[in-house]
Amino acid sequence: MSAGIYSLPKLPYSYDALEPSISAQIMELHHSKHHQTYVTNLNNALKTYASATASNDIAAQIALQNAIRFNGGGHINHSLFWENLTPASSAEANPQSAPALVTAINKTWGSLDDFKAAFTKALLGLQGSGWGWLIKDGGALRIITTKDQDPVVGGEVPIFGVDMWEHAYYLQYLNGKAAYVENIWKVINWKTAEARFQGGRDDAFKVLKASI
Ligand SMILES: [Fe+2]
Repeated sequence: MSAGIYSLPKLPYSYDALEPSISAQIMELHHSKHHQTYVTNLNNALKTYASATASNDIAAQIALQNAIRFNGGGHINHSLFWENLTPASSAEANPQSAPALVTAINKTWGSLDDFKAAFTKALLGLQGSGWGWLIKDGGALRIITTKDQDPVVGGEVPIFGVDMWEHAYYLQYLNGKAAYVENIWKVINWKTAEARFQGGRDDAFKVLKASI
């Protein structure tokens, strides 16, 4: 089993590209420090896991599972997150870039505004650190939240996610979590969301595989 194979993916835009919704300072720290730490710790855990596997040390393998889940989830979630954001001025930030997805959203929630309200409510209802996701579960769309760095790995397709850890907004918004959520809508990449909706799980995780 090879270890140490994951690396930090490049952002598809510059650190200041999402301003004013997300400051350059947050983006740089979030990507180059927080995400990098998940990658480093994941690689270290996998390396140790490989040694434990080679020596048939089941106790050591079990002890490493939390670290792999947490740091592997952090790597998956952030890789998906960077790709499902885009500068507000880009064509991709317009929901018209996601015709099939918006049709399905309208069918499920009544309107895009009603969906946004439901998603916002789920995000603001999260207690502690976690993520909000729009997922495709079979043929249906659903809004879910995950705790800490738990990723969406149950077979559903993550269409887009929003990081609700304090490190994602606190430097800019302080305790104004609602303002962060309001502004994140301006930088959602609807083109990526449409591609994930039209495709499947492999498409959604393409960015992650590319970073290996
Ligand atoms: Fe984060």
